[in-house]
Amino acid sequence: MIVVVSDRPDRSKALVDAVLSVAECRVVGTGETWDRIGDFRGVIADVTLGRPEAKRCLRLLATRPARARTPLICLTRGSGQTAFTEARNLGATLCLSALAEPRMVVGSLVREVWPDKSVADLVVTREAERAGTLMTRLFESAQTGTIDMPSVEQGIAPVLDAIHEGGLTRWLDEVWTHDDVTFQHCLLVSGTAAAFTQGLGLSTADKQLLTRAALVHDVGKSRIPHAILNKPGRLDDDERAVMQTHAPLGHEILSASGGCDPITLAVARHHHEMLDGSGYPDKLCADAIGDPVRLLTICDIYAALIERRPYKAPMTTRDALSILSGMDGKLEGGLVQAFGRVVQGTP
Ligand SMILES: [Fe+2]
Ligand SMILES: [Fe+2]
Repeated sequence: MIVVVSDRPDRSKALVDAVLSVAECRVVGTGETWDRIGDFRGVIADVTLGRPEAKRCLRLLATRPARARTPLICLTRGSGQTAFTEARNLGATLCLSALAEPRMVVGSLVREVWPDKSVADLVVTREAERAGTLMTRLFESAQTGTIDMPSVEQGIAPVLDAIHEGGLTRWLDEVWTHDDVTFQHCLLVSGTAAAFTQGLGLSTADKQLLTRAALVHDVGKSRIPHAILNKPGRLDDDERAVMQTHAPLGHEILSASGGCDPITLAVARHHHEMLDGSGYPDKLCADAIGDPVRLLTICDIYAALIERRPYKAPMTTRDALSILSGMDGKLEGGLVQAFGRVVQGTP
């Protein structure tokens, strides 16, 4: 956790938002006595240092036993060297101008507190955590009932921000550490969809739409028995038939939840349909499968191929892409090629 000491929380809001992109953040006033605040990794003082209460607060901070190891960044408002000297005397390990961009302050904070990490590393970790927490809630509620569709929106920005800030490879590295197979899969598909839509240059609205659809595309799996869902190995025919019900079940859950857009509904039901009619559950053929579903199907298969499971080594990007390319007739060739370029980072 990072503590921001502020005597004007309204003025510190942009800074706090920027800190929240990399860590938990608690805002305290200059009356803070530090004795009941718990553990924190660093402090940013966004205060007018000339005020006696600000000085008292930072002096008290300096008396904490763990203080020696806690970086303190002071944002100074006064003129030049005098303000810096005053901040140093109050224990600042780094002084920055209060006019510095919040993003730049956070860059300095990360260098002070987590010298072996980058801002992008921390953003991706934090956003994956946020999206993962949301997925846990959604799947728990879908097990026996419906889901709160407005809360799905809270998962979209973390995925898009993480992909934008850290790229797909970092996202995959982070999500691969998630133990639960289904959550790992949904986060892999969501990140892959976010990267694909960004790479295709789609509008913000379309990126959000497809990321939303990806987050909940397999929500029907919440009602598939764990023994089948987590079976370490191939499913037999009966098990496969049960597993395949997740697509109509997902559609059912989302319909019953209300307020779900038609594309997300179509993706939930049809993301296992193939252009040649060999998919399920409705054996749709080419024209009946819309572009968003075609796009998500590619992301879904790719994610399934590169997943990490205790009993199988993850497939390399190259091998997974070659399997996708070999599915000509089932997947749209042009989209698969574009997908390959995005995933490999080639223009
Ligand atoms: Fe699925
Ligand atoms: Fe899936």
